[in-house]
Amino acid sequence: MCGIFGYVGKKPAAPILIEGLKTLEYRGYDSAGIFVPGFGVVKSVGPIANLEKKITSDIKGDSGIAHTRWATHGPPTELNAHPHLDMSGSVALVHNGIIENFRELKESLVVQGVTFKSDTDTEVLIKLIGSLYAGNLYEAVKNALKRVRGTYGILVQDEHRPDVIVAARMGSPIVLGVGADGNFVSSDPSALLTHTKKVIYLNDGECAVIKKDSYEILNLAGKKLQKNPETVEWDLESVQKQGYEHFMLKEIFEAGEVIESTIRGRLILEKGKVRLGGMDAVLPKLASLNRLVIVGCGSAYYAGQVGRCMLEEYAGLPVEVELGSEYRYKRNLSDKKTAVLAVTQSGETADTLASLRSAKKLDLLTLGIVNVVGSTIARETDAGVYNHAGPEVAVASTKAFISQLVVFAMLTVLIAREKGMSQAEAKKILDELNALPSVIKKYLSDTKDIKKIAKKYSGYKNAMYIGRKFHAPIASEGSLKLKEVTYIHAEAFAGGELKHGSIALLDKDFPVIAIAPKDDVYEKMISNIEEVKARSAPILAIATEGDSHITDVADDVIFIPKVHPILQPIVSTIPLQLLAYYVGVEKGLNVDRPRNLAKSVTVE
Ligand code: F6R
Repeated sequence: MCGIFGYVGKKPAAPILIEGLKTLEYRGYDSAGIFVPGFGVVKSVGPIANLEKKITSDIKGDSGIAHTRWATHGPPTELNAHPHLDMSGSVALVHNGIIENFRELKESLVVQGVTFKSDTDTEVLIKLIGSLYAGNLYEAVKNALKRVRGTYGILVQDEHRPDVIVAARMGSPIVLGVGADGNFVSSDPSALLTHTKKVIYLNDGECAVIKKDSYEILNLAGKKLQKNPETVEWDLESVQKQGYEHFMLKEIFEAGEVIESTIRGRLILEKGKVRLGGMDAVLPKLASLNRLVIVGCGSAYYAGQVGRCMLEEYAGLPVEVELGSEYRYKRNLSDKKTAVLAVTQSGETADTLASLRSAKKLDLLTLGIVNVVGSTIARETDAGVYNHAGPEVAVASTKAFISQLVVFAMLTVLIAREKGMSQAEAKKILDELNALPSVIKKYLSDTKDIKKIAKKYSGYKNAMYIGRKFHAPIASEGSLKLKEVTYIHAEAFAGGELKHGSIALLDKDFPVIAIAPKDDVYEKMISNIEEVKARSAPILAIATEGDSHITDVADDVIFIPKVHPILQPIVSTIPLQLLAYYVGVEKGLNVDRPRNLAKSVTVE
C-alpha cells in the first residue's frame, strides 16, 4: 500500500525523506516522489533508487513530504505519482486512501476553472485545499476535509511556509515521531524508528500541525487535543508486521479490511446494483456473451473455479476455467461471443499473460481481475476490475484470493442484473456482502481453536481436502496452502469423486479436511464424510455454527458463520488459510518464504 513520510527539522531533508521511503518499500509501491519547499516536486516510476538518482545536492531544504504510491486511480506514471500540487503550484499533498466523492468534487472545481493533470483522486483533494487556502494551511485542510467522503492519511505543505506540515487522518494511519532535533510523520511507525521511538498515533478525524520543535493535535472542529507521545518498544521488522509473527498471518487477518477496500464505492445497495467502472464500456457485451473463459494459475485458477460456480448459478452465464499454462497451448475454438478473463494478483504471471495474448490474437474480448494496478495484464486487457487488496508480501496468496472471490461475487451481480436478476435478490446479496467485513473481523477475533487443531494435524504426512460445488475449489485452495507452507502432501477432490479411486489412499494416518457448510449439498457431503469415516481416516470438518450433527461424524470441527451461499466460500477459506499457517509454524518452517517458490512467476 502507499506510504507517507514527512520531516521538519534542522538537517537536509532530501536524504532523510529518501531513507524514510526506503523503510516503506516493504509495503509495495510502483512510483514515488518528494516535495521540498524551495525546490519543488521530484517524482519517478519504479524503485526508490530511480528517485534517488534524480535528487541533486542543491536540494537543501530542511523539511519536506514524501510518498510511495501503489496505484489505485490511474496507472503508475510520474504524472499520477504524489506529491500533487494545488493550482498555484506551491501547496503540495501526499495522500493514502481513496476519496470516494472525488468525481463530484472535481466537477464543482472544474466549474470554478480549476484544471487537472492527473487521473488521481488525490489531485482533486489538493486542488480543493488550494481553492480554500487563505493564509492558514490547517484551516484550508480542515475545511476541505469536511467536504470529503472516503479514507485518507495526508500530509500537506506550503512552499512559502517550509516550517509547517499539516497532517490528517481518516481511516488511513498517520503517526508522528517526536525527535530531538526535528519532528517526523509517517503512515507507518517503522519509518520513524531510526529517528525516534517517541510516537503519537492520530485517530480518525484528527489533524496535526507539525513544526521542527513543536506540534499541535487538533480535531476537525478546530479543538486542540492533549496527546502525549508513547514509546514504541518493537524493532523494525516487527513494526512492519504490525505485531504479527509473520506477514502471512497479518495478511490473513487483514481479510475484513481487504473486503472493505475491494467493495468500497462499488455497491449501490438501495438499487441492488454494482458499479465496476472498469467494466462500464463492455457491460452490454458481457450480458450477451455465449461463454466466458476464466484463465489463471494456482490460487487465481481456484478463485476462477469459484467464480464459475457464482456466474453459472446466479447469472446463468456458461463459464469455463482454464489453467494459464494449458490454455496458451490449446487449440482455441472460441466464437466471437466468448470473452477471456485473466485472474491474477501480480498481473505479471507469464502463463496467464501468454493466454491473454493468445486470446487477443483471435480478437476475443479480454478482461482482467488484477491486484497490481498498471501491471502488464492490467494494461493489456480491454476492460477489468482492480482488487484494491493492497500488496501481498507473503509468497502464499491469502488476502488476494479473498479479494478475487469478492470481485467475482460483484461481477456476478453486475452481469446477473443485466440478465434479469431481480433488484430484491441482488440487494440481498449486496447487503450481505456489505456486512461481510464485520462478520469476518468478528470471526477472526477468536481463532485459538484453529491453532490447537493445527497442532494436532501437524504430525501427519498426508492430507486430503474435500468439498462440493462452491467448496470443491475451496478444497483445492486449502490443499494448495497446506502444501506450500507446510510441505505436507495434500490432495483435493470434489467429495463425490473419492469413491472413484482416491479413497483407496485413506487410512488412520491420512486425515481428511471436509468443507461442509450447511448448503444445498450438505447432505451429500455428510455421506462423503461417512465414507471416509468407514476407512478410519481422521476427519476435520469446516462446518456452519450451530450444526449439531457434524460432531457425530467428524473428529474435529472448525465452525464458521453462515452467510449468503454465494459468499460462503469467502468465509470458508479463512480457517483453511489459518490451518496451513499454524501447521507451518508448528513445524518451524518459513511460512512467508516457502522453499522453491517465488511471489511472481514471470517465467514459463
Ligand atoms: C498460491 C500462490 C500462487 C499464485 C499463482 C498466480 O498461494 O500464490 O499459486 O496464485 O502463482 O499468481 P498471480 O495471481 O500473481 O497471477
